[in-house]
Amino acid sequence: MFLYSNTILILIFSSILIRAQQNNVCKEFIQYMTKTDGCYYNPDQNTELPDIVKRMGYPVENYTVTTDDSYILTVFRIPRPGAKPVFVQHGISVSAICFTDTLNDSLAYVLYDAGYDVWLGNFRGNRYANKHVFLNTDTLAYWNFSFHEMGKYDLKSQLGLVYEETNQKIYYIGYSMGTTASYIYNILHPEESLQKLNIMVSLAPIAYLRNMSEIFESLAELWMPLEPEISTITHGVVQQRSEFSTFLTETLCLSNTITMFICQVFTQSFVGMDLEQLRAETLPIVSVQNPDAASTKTITHYAQFVNSKRFQYFDYGRTANTRIYGDPIAPLYDISNITIPIYLMHGENDQLATMSNVENFFKDLPESTKKNGKFLVPYKKFNHLDFISAKDQKSLLYDPLVNFLKNPIL
Ligand SMILES: *[C@@H]1O[C@H](CO)[C@@H](O)[C@H](O)[C@H]1NC(C)=O
Ligand SMILES: *[C@@H]1O[C@H](CO)[C@@H](O)[C@H](O)[C@H]1NC(C)=O
Ligand SMILES: *[C@@H]1O[C@H](CO)[C@@H](O)[C@H](O)[C@H]1NC(C)=O
Ligand SMILES: *[C@@H]1O[C@H](CO)[C@@H](O)[C@H](O)[C@H]1NC(C)=O
Ligand SMILES: *[C@@H]1O[C@H](CO)[C@@H](O)[C@H](O)[C@H]1NC(C)=O
Repeated sequence: MFLYSNTILILIFSSILIRAQQNNVCKEFIQYMTKTDGCYYNPDQNTELPDIVKRMGYPVENYTVTTDDSYILTVFRIPRPGAKPVFVQHGISVSAICFTDTLNDSLAYVLYDAGYDVWLGNFRGNRYANKHVFLNTDTLAYWNFSFHEMGKYDLKSQLGLVYEETNQKIYYIGYSMGTTASYIYNILHPEESLQKLNIMVSLAPIAYLRNMSEIFESLAELWMPLEPEISTITHGVVQQRSEFSTFLTETLCLSNTITMFICQVFTQSFVGMDLEQLRAETLPIVSVQNPDAASTKTITHYAQFVNSKRFQYFDYGRTANTRIYGDPIAPLYDISNITIPIYLMHGENDQLATMSNVENFFKDLPESTKKNGKFLVPYKKFNHLDFISAKDQKSLLYDPLVNFLKNPIL
């Protein structure tokens, strides 16, 4: 055991040393066999969001907010004071870095270049939001949250900050869980929403998880009985970042063209197959930088959506539900209470925000919120991860998004 852990330590240590010198990205996948021709060292793989943004030639600031339930979050800004503010909110098990780490095609730069004052939110638990006023962050009590709290508290504080700093109504852009939380924010904070938000753009919208692939149906069913054990062992958090997790990713999934291919086929068997949109030059960056912590409770809450086919509050079980909600059945999030105009942007091969889930959700939205219609990415294989890492994300999605923002029906 001692020998084993020592070996791992030495491996990690040498991988850190080597990382500082080696070519880590290549223009073409085949070049990863040797990592020589067409390859170079991109420091984005080993730095943090502000360093990446500065290296790309953009200004960057950070702000700190403390939520009403005492979580401490960082909000980043690529400032253009006086311009229209856009607030961009990431999805599950990633951080705001996912909008900055695909070279100059990243959403944050596309928005800034289009003339916006760009704000990037961070949900509780990720590396830029893992502080709390009094809770220790390795306790179950700290990780006792799902996207419900992100909508109720995190968005309230973050949007409050942006509104206070800019004195303008905000263009909200959410991706995946960033959309779920935005609906919850709107439903729970109706007056604030109307005061602070112009529009909610939903990239890969997640509210209904009724019609899922068999893989996700099975995973959601499997997860429920395992969850208590997993939560106890992990203190309620999975995929937390560490030197070790980075080392594993680099060794197992990035060492050469073949391991890269195997890992991508595995990942895409869940999110939707689209090997064509993988970008050789940024895959090692996003593979290392994007993954971040997710609370087991967040996963459970989504699994409940799949199993119950309802867009509902967290289900604590009949007894606790009665105590907490005054009803043995967890209440629905009332979609008819959504008041902010919404623009849904979705992909045909997205195995989470599936066509029928998105269409059914759109059908149920109040008429007053859906005057802008919705947008289907004009590329058949566009999957859930392509929204933040596709080779052609700019031309397929971000350019149409910027175009839409010029003249939405509000
Ligand atoms: C925020 O900015 C300060 C000052 O530039 C810096 O020291 C700090 O590391 C930044 N925080 C984050 C989370 O990037
Ligand atoms: C982005 O980078 C590419 C490759 O370096 C370059 O050809 C392109 O002009 C850049 N685009 C912008 C908008 O700066
Ligand atoms: C988590 O929150 C729920 C609801 O507020 C509460 O009933 C439960 O006791 C909390 N669990 C922990 C471990 O803090
Ligand atoms: C679920 O999706 C499949 C294909 O993804 C489709 O054929 C089926 O009609 C959908 N079912 C419902 C109830 O929407
Ligand atoms: C939703 O709207 C109804 C009717 O307008 C209202 O009675 C209810 O309190 C609202 N729900 C929430 C969670 O605000």
